[in-house]
Amino acid sequence: MNITFFGTKPYDRMWFEEMGKQYGFPIRFFEVNLSEETVALAQGADAICVFVNDDVNGKVIAQLAEFGVKTILLRCAGFNQVDLKTAQKHDIKVLRVPGYSPEAVAEFSMGLLLAVNRQIPRAYVRTRMFNMNIHGLMGHDLKNRTVGIIGTGKIGQAMIQICKGFGMRILAYDIYPVDGLDVEYVSLDELFERSDVISLHCPLTKDNYHMIDRRTLKKMKDGVYIINTSRGALIDAKALVEALRLPGKIGGVALDVYEEEGGIFYEDKSNDIVDDDTLARLLMFPNVLITSHQGYFTMEAMQAIAIETMENAYAVKQGNPCPNEVTL
Ligand code: NAI
Repeated sequence: MNITFFGTKPYDRMWFEEMGKQYGFPIRFFEVNLSEETVALAQGADAICVFVNDDVNGKVIAQLAEFGVKTILLRCAGFNQVDLKTAQKHDIKVLRVPGYSPEAVAEFSMGLLLAVNRQIPRAYVRTRMFNMNIHGLMGHDLKNRTVGIIGTGKIGQAMIQICKGFGMRILAYDIYPVDGLDVEYVSLDELFERSDVISLHCPLTKDNYHMIDRRTLKKMKDGVYIINTSRGALIDAKALVEALRLPGKIGGVALDVYEEEGGIFYEDKSNDIVDDDTLARLLMFPNVLITSHQGYFTMEAMQAIAIETMENAYAVKQGNPCPNEVTL
């Protein structure tokens, strides 16, 4: 099975070159993301391997089918970037890595909450300039504060454990509540109304696009903290900017994902003029922290992703059923 990788960074090669050899798969690496413009690079491949910002839309898939590509390997958990209907129509298998390290993302989410609540990035910048003034850096104790967890799957549950360790009260919302989980499940509206901190851990689907918008932001408590390590389009970023402009409305926001992150996140744009005004505005607020979709990025998670991706490819090659296949 020849595999063509898109969106490859040096840290991907570090793991996959070795794994490809171990599993006996010839691999071609391309740095460019998959799109209608770059899909021609997949010619000659039996499988392609993509990440979160590759665009696997219907037109791309039809082209892949013409080239004889039979498998799409996602080296990530989310699959919102893939047009599953078209993949099914062309009999192309789609496989993902659902649970490589939920702790990596949950720990990062708590890191973001601590950083934005206690203003650690601002403190770092100040002390580097020998400005030891702490005025404006006051945060809140997390103990006894209420955190609302949206999505109580693998990452949500890992986050709940961490929040419990901090002595926080837990509210949760999931379209499929988990039996026996020691949390108070409430409606989404109640979660928005009662939470001091809201942390998103659900996938992006057609039903929850912009679940945080002007209407739901209005329901939230003054001083609320919002953490999103899930998918950018769960939040209407323009509505978030409006809310951030209201004095006292938002305590802090930390985003590891952004709805228009494709082509920006994972790239060095420090010498370019950023033409995304919403992102530029978000970066200007003192109580907003943005990271570049790195919640998953630990040694342990990268190794697990590489192994599981190769295991998925191996199952397809052998014609074995694979629990990681994504179906409609
Ligand atoms: P999971 O599949 O274990 O859990 C997702 C949970 O969300 C399930 O319990 C499901 O019932 C629930 N859910 C689905 N639709 C919902 C909705 N509309 N409202 C509320 N809950 C809903 O997934 P896992 O592994 O916990 O990952 C969650 C998400 O985290 C992924 O879909 C992905 O978007 C994101 N992620 C982000 C990473 C990062 O580096 N920042 C890395 C890995 C995942």
